[in-house]
Amino acid sequence: MSPDPRPIGVFDSGIGGLSVVKHCARLLPDERFVYLGDTARVPYGNKSAETVQSYSAQCAAFLLSHDVKMIIVACNTASALALDMLRSHVSIPVLGVIEPAARKAAAATANGHIGVIGTRATIASDSYARAITRYAGERRVDIHSRPCPLFVPLVEEGWLDSPATRLIAEEYLRPLMSNGIDTLVLGCTHYPLLMPVLSDMLPGVQLIDCGLCAADEARSVLGVDQQSPTKASQIDLYVTDHTPAFTMLARQFLGMPLDEPVRVNVDHLQLPSAR
Ligand code: DGL
Repeated sequence: MSPDPRPIGVFDSGIGGLSVVKHCARLLPDERFVYLGDTARVPYGNKSAETVQSYSAQCAAFLLSHDVKMIIVACNTASALALDMLRSHVSIPVLGVIEPAARKAAAATANGHIGVIGTRATIASDSYARAITRYAGERRVDIHSRPCPLFVPLVEEGWLDSPATRLIAEEYLRPLMSNGIDTLVLGCTHYPLLMPVLSDMLPGVQLIDCGLCAADEARSVLGVDQQSPTKASQIDLYVTDHTPAFTMLARQFLGMPLDEPVRVNVDHLQLPSAR
C-alpha cells in the first residue's frame, strides 16, 4: 500500500509544540507537517477548561481544513483538558502528549520518585499523576508535581538561558530536588527549549521530553518503521499572531531553514458535529 500523502497536523498555544515537531521530523522524515501556534492567545496554561477547549477546537478545525491525516495535540494543557472533546468530533487519529510521557516516566524511574512540571492547568488537572500511577501498576510511585507558569513567557520571549531564567528555574526546581526525584516529566511542550538550563540544574535526573514520546507514538499509530529520509521533512508554519521571537527561535531550535510563518485567523472556525 502506498503511504498516505496527507500531512500531519500539529498545534500548540505557541512555539512549544515545535519541540514535538522536532522529534517527529527526525522519526518521520518523509512526512509533511502543518504546524499552528496559537500565538495570539498564548498562554493556555492559566485559562479555564472551557476556554482551552474552545481554542483547541478552532486550532483542530484549522488543521482539518488542511486535510491532515492525524492531529497531534502538541500541548499538555490542551491534551489534559480538550483531548476527549476533540476525539469525539474528529474521525482521524488525535494524539495527545500526556499518555506517552506518563508511560515512559513510569518505566524510567528507579527510586519511584517522579517529578512533574507543567502549566497550572495541566498540574491542576492531575492528568499526569493519574496516568503515571496507572502505568506503574503494582509498583509504588510518589509523584511530586509543580506548576511553573513563568517558563512559557520566558520561552516565547526567547529567554532560553538568561540569568533570570536560571534564577526562576532554581526557585521552581529546588523543592523537587529535595523530594529526591530521579525522573522529571517536562509536562509542557515549551520546556524542552529550556533543556540546557534544566539538565544543568538536575544532574543525574532523567528528563522526560513528552515530544519524543509523542513522536514515537505517532510513528506506531501510522504503522511505519524507521523511515529512511528521501527528502528533508517539510514544515508549514502558521501562527495566529506574529511575535518577534517566533521565526528566529523556530529556525534555531529546529536547526533548519524555514519560511516565515503565515498569519491566520481561526476564531470563526468550528469542528464538525460530535460523532
Ligand atoms: N506548551 C503548552 C503545554 O504543553 C502550553 C503552554 C501554555 O500556553 O501555557 O502545556
